[in-house]
Amino acid sequence: MITYFDGMPTAAHPMAILSSMVNSLAIYYPQYFVDEDSEDLYQLMAARLISKIRTIAAFSYKKSVGEPFVYPRHDLKYCANFLHMMVNSPVRPYVPDSEEERILNMLLVLHADHEQNCSTSTVRLVGSSRVNLYSSIGAGICALWGPLHGGANQEVIEMLENIHDSNMSVADVIADAKNPEKRFRLSGFGHRVYKNYDPRARILKKACADFMKNRHISDPLLEIALELENAALSDDYFIERNLYPNVDFYSGIIYRELGIPSNMYMVLFAMGRMPGWIAQWKEMHDTKPFKIGRPRQIYTGLTDAVYQPSSERS
Ligand SMILES: CC(C)(COP(=O)(O)OP(=O)(O)OC[C@H]1O[C@@H](n2cnc3c(N)ncnc32)[C@H](O)[C@@H]1OP(=O)(O)O)[C@@H](O)C(=O)NCCC(=O)NCCS
Repeated sequence: MITYFDGMPTAAHPMAILSSMVNSLAIYYPQYFVDEDSEDLYQLMAARLISKIRTIAAFSYKKSVGEPFVYPRHDLKYCANFLHMMVNSPVRPYVPDSEEERILNMLLVLHADHEQNCSTSTVRLVGSSRVNLYSSIGAGICALWGPLHGGANQEVIEMLENIHDSNMSVADVIADAKNPEKRFRLSGFGHRVYKNYDPRARILKKACADFMKNRHISDPLLEIALELENAALSDDYFIERNLYPNVDFYSGIIYRELGIPSNMYMVLFAMGRMPGWIAQWKEMHDTKPFKIGRPRQIYTGLTDAVYQPSSERS
């Protein structure tokens, strides 16, 4: 697997590395298709995925910055082990920090899979062909990557940095978000299902403020985020459309305080989603009768089209 990593270009996005590496697990553990009764095999694949995503995630970061890989430590728990593999370097050893470990654990729990969102449905749809668990999860990771889904927390931080660096006023940002011609949306706001305040955002907002207070640190991006939230929540456009902060609005700021770079946020999101994706896949396979997924489409095009030879078309 290290050889596989070595062949990749440095500076590749960690999410690209993660999706391809998780897919490649089917090469190293070649169980391509799934036998209905292979409970032991399922347990093994599930344990491997939950454990290995942590190592692959940390390695993907090391690869993206051109630093040497750090091997796991058996004396550390899940989150501390991940931080160790991501942060430790030959010149600066990782010192375990129970508060950082607790916060990362909380972030993973808050990002846990729920409902039929884009990536979860992808895992189920791909898995419904009875392809192996690794390939199904690899597809889910690809779905999570987009800016309208798991990519939103990176977008939030970039948006806040941009506002900070350009000295843009909060009023201007709100005006841009409301202007359909700008094609700009307030990242970390809105949700297909939560048409009220996302409860995860409430927890993260408080955790973020508490962490900074306890460490006696401040971050101008948190100030901007709070200002943006207040402005949006009292603006008719956002009120009428039920647009509230979602899980991504404050999570990036905490990751930033933990020293995790923005291109790793989605990777951590995928780590949090992993147990739920696996459970969704399993539930689907245990449901009888098992059927391949087949979304239906409703044709809305022309019903009476007249054929025009290509030579007569303009
Ligand atoms: C999450 C999201 C994709 C949900 O989309 P949706 O349920 O399909 O809602 P729609 O795209 O139909 O938006 C409904 C209306 O609210 C507006 N809207 C939605 N999210 C908005 C945002 N973040 N900023 C500004 N306007 C927004 C839309 O422009 C639309 O306005 P209109 O009725 O005048 O056309 C959408 O809110 C969004 O793009 N948010 C930003 C990205 C993000 O934070 N994603 C993480 C989700 S956990």
